[in-house]
Amino acid sequence: MSLVTITATEGASPEEKREWCERLEAGCILFFPKSPIALTENDLLFLRGQQQTDSSLHKNIAYKPKSDELTGVDTKTANPAAVDRLRSIMRGYSQSVTTFLTGFLAPYAGRWRLDYASFRPQEEQGRDLPLRRRNDLLHTDAFPTRPTHGARILRFFNNIHATRTRDWVVSDPFRAVATKYAPAEIALPRPDSAAGRAMKSLATGVGLGAAVPSFKRSPYDDFMMRFHNFLKENGEFQSSCAKYDYQFPAGSSWMVYTDMVPHAVLAGQYALEQTYLVAAEAMVAPEHAPLTVLEEMAGAKLI
Ligand code: SIN
Ligand code: FE
Repeated sequence: MSLVTITATEGASPEEKREWCERLEAGCILFFPKSPIALTENDLLFLRGQQQTDSSLHKNIAYKPKSDELTGVDTKTANPAAVDRLRSIMRGYSQSVTTFLTGFLAPYAGRWRLDYASFRPQEEQGRDLPLRRRNDLLHTDAFPTRPTHGARILRFFNNIHATRTRDWVVSDPFRAVATKYAPAEIALPRPDSAAGRAMKSLATGVGLGAAVPSFKRSPYDDFMMRFHNFLKENGEFQSSCAKYDYQFPAGSSWMVYTDMVPHAVLAGQYALEQTYLVAAEAMVAPEHAPLTVLEEMAGAKLI
């Protein structure tokens, strides 16, 4: 696992941009000591003020760019002006990150789906969450309700705390961990698995033929979800795996393929994040992709 520190983002050559994609796909974190995303001091103060002033804005708050909608805000009790302001800050953040990455990761431009953004106002140390929702345990990301069908989960983060670091620990990327625990401890996906059959019967049962609805999980998605749970629930993995500590300073940004790099957040408060689902076909080094690794191990197509 390694961190690639990026201090200059302007005027990069096409070869450098391809190299950044390659590093990401190999499981590196791209780290920007000074975030390329500008937020105004007023907006930062507003975001950092939420914890103290408005009890209804405490949770992880998601922003859905396509519908310009916030979730996780209690709109019944939240002050409508504060909700509007938060929505407008999140809209601006989401657009700025996309504009930046369209240039910075040019080989991917137009080949991703813009997913949700989030505002994470809570102190991460000592959060009391059910085990599978804990982010202080190492895990790879998988979405229970938004299967990706092989598209990659790329996340861009900003630490917007005034002074404190956001403290992560990460482990070795997908191939190393998957080959250690699958198939002995976690069954490999199979194209004719229960999930696959359920999808086929659902698709044909309602007359859709081969057109599987995108909300259904493929055998790949099914595995990635089980793998997320398996890692969080496996005490041996949590205690004995390779660990690399990173403390992302106030005002920094970083990005990583969170579907392949086991990660956990141990401490920190106030972060912004934007997620992209990058098309499998856009990979410049597909040999590292979880789908490639799993299809190799299973000896079959999994999508
Ligand atoms: C996560 O994606 O597991 C949490 C990362 C963070 O909030 O820093
Ligand atoms: Fe995560």
